Amino acid sequence: MSYTPRLLLVGCGLMGKRHIGGIYEIRKSGLFQARLVGVVDAIPERASEAAQLAEKMLGERPMQFSSLHEAERAAEFEAADICTDPATHHKIAQPLLERGVSCIVEKPLSPTVRGCKLMLDAANRGGGILALAENYRRDPANRLAKWMIEGGELGGWLAAAQIVVGGGDNVLLTPWRHKKSGGILIDLCCHYTDIFLYYFGPPSGVQGSSALLRRTRYERRVRGDSVEKTSLEAEAEDFLSACYFYGGAVATLFVNLAASGEGIWRRTVYLEEGSIDVPMERTGEPVKTSRPSDSDYLTLRPHTVFTGQRTGTPYSLSPSTAAEVYDKETRALFPGLINGYKMDFWEVDRKLIALELLDFLRCVVDGGRPETGGFEGMLSVAMVLAALESSHLGRTVSLDGILELKTERYQERINKELGLVSDK
Ligand SMILES: NC(=O)c1ccc[n+]([C@@H]2O[C@H](COP(=O)([O-])OP(=O)(O)OC[C@H]3O[C@@H](n4cnc5c(N)ncnc54)[C@H](O)[C@@H]3O)[C@@H](O)[C@H]2O)c1
Repeated sequence: MSYTPRLLLVGCGLMGKRHIGGIYEIRKSGLFQARLVGVVDAIPERASEAAQLAEKMLGERPMQFSSLHEAERAAEFEAADICTDPATHHKIAQPLLERGVSCIVEKPLSPTVRGCKLMLDAANRGGGILALAENYRRDPANRLAKWMIEGGELGGWLAAAQIVVGGGDNVLLTPWRHKKSGGILIDLCCHYTDIFLYYFGPPSGVQGSSALLRRTRYERRVRGDSVEKTSLEAEAEDFLSACYFYGGAVATLFVNLAASGEGIWRRTVYLEEGSIDVPMERTGEPVKTSRPSDSDYLTLRPHTVFTGQRTGTPYSLSPSTAAEVYDKETRALFPGLINGYKMDFWEVDRKLIALELLDFLRCVVDGGRPETGGFEGMLSVAMVLAALESSHLGRTVSLDGILELKTERYQERINKELGLVSDK
């Protein structure tokens, strides 16, 4: 039987507020109805800001709380949307899941595999749904890229590269992203490992090298006519180079978040007969393909032999094929979608969050498994941790070993800090 699920939002910082925009888009699309009954933040002003935003966007002011405990005593809800910092996810989700409340948890599910397992076990016992809030794969560009890879038009895939270079000496969004127990590599790279999982499935072996390049970072604020800089000592790594082995194919992740000056962002899949170039999420740029011909090879010069044969061009598909590529919800939120879209960042951001929340809420009401459940959440974290464990041990590690908790030397300190193992 269908009903309107009641949702509690826990964590009203940067992302928590953006989730209110996701609920707004679900409502506006008419695809589903859900009620935000309460908002919780340990910082009361943030809960109050979120309640105000919800009133403005959703037309109903939710109750506001400064702790989950308070919310549990005063509000009734079937589902919780957890948008706190990663080190707290398991502490908030576990008791809720134990008593059957379904939870969607922002990525990364937890900073360690132990943290993820705690939530998965609690969901199994309590019977509620555990979902990962993973917005990147829901960008239409990733839907199209996966469809193209699976369609085999350019042959089987051989290699993939995800490169992200930038960050400079800034504090990257929040200070907690520079602590070991929620570090920026886990926080950002789990999006990219989820993309590898989405396109190719789980790898077998993983090899990684990581480093902490910038120990001092700065928060910048404008004060009158000058810029005030506050320094912060970073403890979490900001550089990772990882290879994910898939039998004969390799996916590479190269992330340098300490680079000042010109940056790089690139995601390309190399297949037997050409390449697929996927744009950065939320830019709306088209997916491009390049299929070189024999004459492209014949016109190469010594200095271009190693740099590719042909520049990519937007992949063309008909409206009827687009209807096969994108699901009903994506088409409803991105009207007229073929390859690429023109939309302001914040509008796309709301729509991608709407898609992840919609998938979760439908499962809460009708049953079924969300596309990114707790297990997928654990896999994307385990893939990043595998690269960090490999760097720590100086050898290739197996993803199974990470999932079975046979390899957790790197995670040892984080597990202790999070109270996931005894400190003795
Ligand atoms: N998917 C995306 O594109 C994306 C983007 C940004 C952040 N995120 C994720 O969202 C999560 C939150 O990140 P953020 O940038 O919003 O962090 P943030 O620090 O801005 O917000 C976290 C909020 O949680 C609150 N909080 C912490 N512990 C709490 C507790 N026990 N009870 C109640 N409130 C508590 C804090 O007071 C804070 O307001 C992280 O997991 C992050 O990785 C995802």
